[in-house]
Amino acid sequence: MVKAEFVVVANRLPVDRTVDEDGAAAWRGSPGGLVTALEPVMKKADGAWVGWAGQPDMDIEPFEFDGTHLVPVTLSAEDVELYYEGFSNDTIWPLYHDVIAEPRYRRVWWDAYVRVNKRFAEASAAVASENATVWVQDYQLQLVPKMLRELRPDLTIGYFHHIPFPAYGLYSQLPWRRQVLEGLLGADVIGFQRVADAGNFARSVRRQLRYQTKASGITVPAEDGTTRIALAKAFPISIDASSYIELAQRDDVKARALEIRESLGNPKQIFLGVDRLDYTKGIRHRLKAYGELLTEGRLSVEDVTLVQVASPSRERVAAYIQLRDEIELTVGRINGDFDTMDHTAIRYLHQAYPREEMVALFLAADVMLVTALRDGMNLVAKEYVASRIDNRGVLLLSEFAGAADELGTAVRINPHDIGGLKDAMMRAVEMPAGEQGRRMRALRRKVLEHSVEDWSREFLEALAVFHNKRETGK
Ligand code: G6P
Repeated sequence: MVKAEFVVVANRLPVDRTVDEDGAAAWRGSPGGLVTALEPVMKKADGAWVGWAGQPDMDIEPFEFDGTHLVPVTLSAEDVELYYEGFSNDTIWPLYHDVIAEPRYRRVWWDAYVRVNKRFAEASAAVASENATVWVQDYQLQLVPKMLRELRPDLTIGYFHHIPFPAYGLYSQLPWRRQVLEGLLGADVIGFQRVADAGNFARSVRRQLRYQTKASGITVPAEDGTTRIALAKAFPISIDASSYIELAQRDDVKARALEIRESLGNPKQIFLGVDRLDYTKGIRHRLKAYGELLTEGRLSVEDVTLVQVASPSRERVAAYIQLRDEIELTVGRINGDFDTMDHTAIRYLHQAYPREEMVALFLAADVMLVTALRDGMNLVAKEYVASRIDNRGVLLLSEFAGAADELGTAVRINPHDIGGLKDAMMRAVEMPAGEQGRRMRALRRKVLEHSVEDWSREFLEALAVFHNKRETGK
């Protein structure tokens, strides 16, 4: 059996299973944010990746893909329903995004979450070599750090939380709030997107567990009466900026951007939204603001189009089914009211696209709308900025997205303030090229000076301190 010195554990494997016309199955690298974030690290480290292949009841042996050893964890249809759709995406997801949708607290979901986290911990313990470093990813696996430490005290364990960590007043709703905090504290380093998330976490630890915290350090007692220090701090994630720049420089991608504009009737202004179809993204607020601007005649369908890419997500969870219905009803109404034979108000696409097509869209879009009500980071904001090698385009960015901490020269918006959002949209379409350039250059500096490789390097350097201490016994 293969053993690895560096192991990533995430709910999903970095591959999707495809089946061609003849019924032959194959694996294809999946384009998700988390995957692209870790790809460079995995390639260098010759590591293993433990995760779910994305479909129920798929029992597959470990296999090699693109230089990484993949270790599939099987989830039954029931596990998918209770652990993934239930506890992960109908309890933790809404709770951690400030209760935008109502979290449901169901004991059978929690039991499944414990059971499945155990399975991930066992699979990771089995593939990690002596003194290996294991990096656990995201809210689906919050109990894994502690479970893994119990199974393998020799390991150095990191955890990165890709989504927000809520204020204590909300977090304390969780019936299993102590167990989750203890689960996370099994890690040596617990990384968050924003300083505020790390602060919320430390406060919950103080209030719930009465552990001492000092700067980023948390004193965690062990059962044998000793203590150890865990580090909880912000490591804002980023993107592989150079790959976006390379695509944006390609002639075929530039030509595609022009083609997209043309296919929309060459409007003067294109607004763009790119999101997973999720209630945290503020898509409804964006449509409301846009619809009102058309109704009031401040914008005209002859001059503007909104392209909304909403990629399918968690389609069996009730809140997502309802959201899709609402959005599609609203899009239909707006288009029905304002479309002409030659122009459409909203080009709505419930699909996911390859990165080339996304970059072409970014280049075609005059105004990028990021209106999240709450978002861990929002990598789309950074992707737009990285792609705008021409220093043009305006980024409207919600102050509730983690990216707002770094991207200070974006046009900041509060998506709840529809009046303010409308004014910001007007300001964006009217912004002179000079101001666009000044803002975009500053944004690009930020995104280019801290890419995803810096993110993983900084996190792994913090983790290496713990690894070295273990090795030298100091
Ligand atoms: C967010 C989460 C990821 C998750 C992704 C897609 O970015 O932080 O952990 O993988 O959404 O969601 P899905 O449920 O399809 O994995």
